[in-house]
Amino acid sequence: MPHILATAPGKAILFGEHAVVYGRPAVAVPVTEVRAKATVMPLISGPAGRVEIHAPDIQLESPLADLPGEHPLKVAFHTLQAHLGLERFPALRLQVRSTIPLAAGLGSSAATSVAVLKALSEFLGRPLEKAELNRLAYEVERAHHGSPSGIDNTVITYEQPVFFRRGEPFQPLEVAAPLILLVGDTGVPGSTAEAIAGVRRLRDADPAAVEAIFDRIGRLAETARDHLLAGSVTALGPLMDENHRLLEQIGVSSAELERLVTAAREAGAYGAKLSGGGRGGNMIALVSEERLEAVRDALLAAGARRAFAARILPAVEG
Ligand code: MEV
Repeated sequence: MPHILATAPGKAILFGEHAVVYGRPAVAVPVTEVRAKATVMPLISGPAGRVEIHAPDIQLESPLADLPGEHPLKVAFHTLQAHLGLERFPALRLQVRSTIPLAAGLGSSAATSVAVLKALSEFLGRPLEKAELNRLAYEVERAHHGSPSGIDNTVITYEQPVFFRRGEPFQPLEVAAPLILLVGDTGVPGSTAEAIAGVRRLRDADPAAVEAIFDRIGRLAETARDHLLAGSVTALGPLMDENHRLLEQIGVSSAELERLVTAAREAGAYGAKLSGGGRGGNMIALVSEERLEAVRDALLAAGARRAFAARILPAVEG
């Protein structure tokens, strides 16, 4: 059996994180500048069922059998095994590498799940359809946090911008003009599970007020979709600023995120907001080619651990 390599991109939520967990629409894009990579190779001398895991980025070198039952990699193997009706895996070694920062709102967990499921299914000679891959990756996402909306695994599986509403088929979003995002890392890990739990507490304490904020975020996502389809890039900036303000009101911003978002705006970004679960992790700024360097410098000067450009391009016809 040959070595099989599969990869999956990171993602950024442009509009609608958190509100999307509660049924409001959201817009997300793939971030192809960073990727998770899974390589599966046969273990020539191993007995059937022996699976070794090597994930140097998280200092993990272990037989699969020794990982705790809720470990996402173990959940990925079990989910695929059940889906394929497989008695046991052939002896194999899985290597996982990733350039997607961990706990940073860029979809590292979903991208790892997608890459691993893709590589394993191809290795077994039973490649998954995208819809199956997406469904299985969602199952694994549930092991990370109890109530994922499914937006992360969807945008990462299909590698295209999406307009997404929980429980409905997603709408692919054909952006009409290129978008340049600067992704700025606070360097502070942000746990999506904890951020989601915090928002839930707030909502349970004052459902009317928090649901009203979700409604406003959902409307921003709808307006943004129309601007993306029309290629009205600059019109997205104020919507991002407004989305960020609403996220701040539900408690998922942080001092570091505020510093980076403000620095990006002052340096001439069209708009800026936190992206993903928040409470740390990354922010995104929408910029013109001309302001790219100035905004990157401003982010670094304001304490960003790193800042990189992500480009979302219109699909090529034909
Ligand atoms: C995480 O990328 C986005 C959240 O809305 C969680 C989810 O949709 O599952 C915070």
